[in-house]
Amino acid sequence: MSKKTVLVSGGAGFIGSHVTVELTQAGYDVVIADNFSNCDETNYRGVCAILGKELPLIPMDFCQRSSVEELFSKYPIDAVIHFAAFKAVGESVSEPLKYYRNNLVSFMNILDVAREKGCNVLFSSSATVYGQTDQLPVTEQSPRQPAESPYGNTKTMCEDILRDSVKAYPGVRGIALRYFNPIGAHPSALIGELPRGVPNNLVPFITQTAIGKRECLSVFGNDYPTPDGTCLRDFIDIVDLAKAHVCAVTRMCEGKMKQAYEIFNVGTGRPLSVLELITAFEKVNGVKLNWKYAPRRAGDVVAIWADPTLAEQELGWKAERSIEDTLAAAWAWEKRLAGK
Ligand code: UD1
Repeated sequence: MSKKTVLVSGGAGFIGSHVTVELTQAGYDVVIADNFSNCDETNYRGVCAILGKELPLIPMDFCQRSSVEELFSKYPIDAVIHFAAFKAVGESVSEPLKYYRNNLVSFMNILDVAREKGCNVLFSSSATVYGQTDQLPVTEQSPRQPAESPYGNTKTMCEDILRDSVKAYPGVRGIALRYFNPIGAHPSALIGELPRGVPNNLVPFITQTAIGKRECLSVFGNDYPTPDGTCLRDFIDIVDLAKAHVCAVTRMCEGKMKQAYEIFNVGTGRPLSVLELITAFEKVNGVKLNWKYAPRRAGDVVAIWADPTLAEQELGWKAERSIEDTLAAAWAWEKRLAGK
């Protein structure tokens, strides 16, 4: 079978760079496109170093339809994985139009061209679509809740746009992967998370505090109805998560989908509290973290974790890396960034 070509939009970012590595190692040709609005070329260079070759990198904005058309005429694209989107929850509340315009228009442009070319589309969705639910773990059948933020709403809306598009346009098939909390870095420490400014997410804040870039980690809330009072999350290793994309793309490209639109949870199925994560980080890396309790953060759900059974049954994928390996990789990456 001839090699398939996958376009990775946002391929220079945290998730996109790890997915690019796994796809290439699985035998796919990958074309990376990114407008570098939220990252520099660090991860792209890391990807090339891991793979020992240069991959095509197209600097472009998916909101420009003509650029998307040009890209599709230049490369024989069999599948698109779409990561190119804004993702800061707080900023999306203060600048909703920026989020709706960017995240929706870029995705619609991709779908529009993909349907003309008869191309598969994988959308990077989020467990945020489930909101807070009492039925844990969540399955793909669990009802979605109204989004807490415009960012979350763009995830829900893009899922619906994909669902309706595959229904209407016979040339397109689509998969939405709902990520839980992706963390960690590549074991080579050549690619990882590069938040701009003060990190919003837990693990980059932990590693930056441990390295001395931040003074103290605030643990948001200690009075939640959970065993230790802190929130429960399903932290999924970034390399495991990237491998789920290889399985999903292969399913699409080999015509193995059971429906034209499918959804899969990508999580471990194991809840961990914020406090347990901090303790595991300290233990595996032998560092003492400066942290304190702070008030609850607006918009946080108490607890969410995946039922990953469907992904295991249908994609043949399950999370494999231990939380210790994941947190050691996150720390190795932070140390490498700091030149230590
Ligand atoms: C958020 C987004 C999710 C997105 C994910 C990306 C929402 C509601 N959540 O998830 O869609 O996929 O980021 O990784 O849109 N915490 C602290 N101190 C900190 C930072 C976080 O205690 O400095 C706590 C939070 O209160 C939360 C947990 O750590 O309980 C995880 O937070 P975070 O890493 O920001 O991820 P989520 O909010 O779960």
